[in-house]
Amino acid sequence: MKKGFSHGLTNYGDREFSLYLRRSFARSMGLSERLLDAPIVGIAAAPSGFNNCHRNIDELVEAVSRGVLAEGGLPRVFPTISLGEVFLSPTSMKFRNLMAMDTEEMIRAQPMDAVVLIGGCDKTVPAQLMGALSADVPAVQLVTGPMSTGRHKGERLGACTDCRRFWARYRSGDIESGEIETVEGRLATTTGTCAVMGTASSMACIAETLGIALPGSAAIPAVHSARLVAAEESGRVAMSLAKNAIRPSQVITEKSVENAFRLLMAVGGSTNAIIHLTAIAGRAGIRISYDRLNAISDETPVLVDLKPVGEGYMEDLFAAGGVGAVLHELKPLLHLDTMTVQGRTLGQVLETPPGWVDRNVVREFARPISPVGGLVALQGSLAPDGAIFKRAAATQSLFEHEGRAVVFDGLEDLAARIDAPDLEVKADDVLVLKNAGPKACGMPEAGYLPIPRKLAQQGVKDMVRISDARMSGTAFGTVVLHVAPEAALGGPLSAVRNGDRIRLSVRDKRIDLLVDEAEVARRLAGFRQAETPRRGYAALYHNTVTQAPQGCDFDFLAGM
Ligand code: FES
Repeated sequence: MKKGFSHGLTNYGDREFSLYLRRSFARSMGLSERLLDAPIVGIAAAPSGFNNCHRNIDELVEAVSRGVLAEGGLPRVFPTISLGEVFLSPTSMKFRNLMAMDTEEMIRAQPMDAVVLIGGCDKTVPAQLMGALSADVPAVQLVTGPMSTGRHKGERLGACTDCRRFWARYRSGDIESGEIETVEGRLATTTGTCAVMGTASSMACIAETLGIALPGSAAIPAVHSARLVAAEESGRVAMSLAKNAIRPSQVITEKSVENAFRLLMAVGGSTNAIIHLTAIAGRAGIRISYDRLNAISDETPVLVDLKPVGEGYMEDLFAAGGVGAVLHELKPLLHLDTMTVQGRTLGQVLETPPGWVDRNVVREFARPISPVGGLVALQGSLAPDGAIFKRAAATQSLFEHEGRAVVFDGLEDLAARIDAPDLEVKADDVLVLKNAGPKACGMPEAGYLPIPRKLAQQGVKDMVRISDARMSGTAFGTVVLHVAPEAALGGPLSAVRNGDRIRLSVRDKRIDLLVDEAEVARRLAGFRQAETPRRGYAALYHNTVTQAPQGCDFDFLAGM
């Protein structure tokens, strides 16, 4: 097999000329002849002035390069687009597939024998894994790592569960504007990804469990020297893959995806990770049904005590033993014959004992935080194709709940009326948000509807909330998400009206609209789809994005 600059030549109709020209231009970068003939490790990097979570990428690139050079290879860093969660409008989710396409095509088009993917913020790791799996060039994922916590009045603060907690206190009048301004400066104080078990952390843990990120690398804080060591080692491993290819398609298999879903349950991970892992698996033609997801959830205990479900932060998971400590507890439930980028099976990786484990953070299998997993899929007349519910972050007294629907037609309607003093709403009502799904507006994290101000001021902290939107992995509450089909496609959600009765049953894993079927059919007969975008990426997105149970990938990107 041709290595380095000699493969994937630019097409001039004369291969020798192409190579001569490429080497000539490579020399203009000051590369020695020895390195011109070396295997190449690409480094897909996504730094951006609009992405705080990637502020340490330059340092990581340097460390990865060190590892590649030490093994006699040539590191070549290349950019892709970068998705900074809170800097993108209408939502970063709309651009995940764009970054996946960018990553896939640049890996495929440029001459590299292996690639190290450096990302961290919510959508970047899924995008990189989707792209790398489709390109199927040997790849190692390196995450930027979680932020360290800040301090406020003697307590630790971390993005972004505490962002929401303090904002809820501010909305309810519990704290003043001066304090919320102070807190604003203490929530996100270092580089790295959100400090709790949100989407970014969930995806980092998933990458390690899949075997495409190095063992022990997911939870290392962004600012810790060990992260640079992991980066250097990632470069070395990528060089071994350049010589003896293990492709992403050999690492990301049905078995490793099941392991990753199990890990997600055990860490009390993000609902968004279900969409992302589904999309990644879909690139290899793997489909884990919602029934299988529920079986995994019912068999897998929650073992990790981190916010938003529990108490700690990612820095605590690192100090407690990391993902390896969790995988050791889950060992009887895992497929141990899955392959990792180091060329060892997961079973071989787990032959090394985890060392001391802080049992306040990572519980033993026999003494879990909860005997069942944190996430479940619901089905029922309101969501014929399913919905997702994070039972680990919800209020147990609302698990079996029937209430009156208070409906918002979309995000603008929600913003305009949720705090209106004349909004007719009671604490046992069910808040319903329509038209926030993938086709409607890119599926923003709007499913965590705020508690109406007048109820918040009465001390109401949680209500049943339902939508076709997503929710931040750092959020909590009794929130039904990802309702499919979405309202903008004419799903039953679009038929819900103020005053309808809705029943949530977590025991039966159901979400039902208690309206006569014929009446629902009559309402849906009048449904008209909104006008679709006509040009550019918005049109491509709208016309080809799939629903949440398919991972919201573009329909033409699924499969190998
Ligand atoms: Fe980047 Fe939370 S904003 S991980």
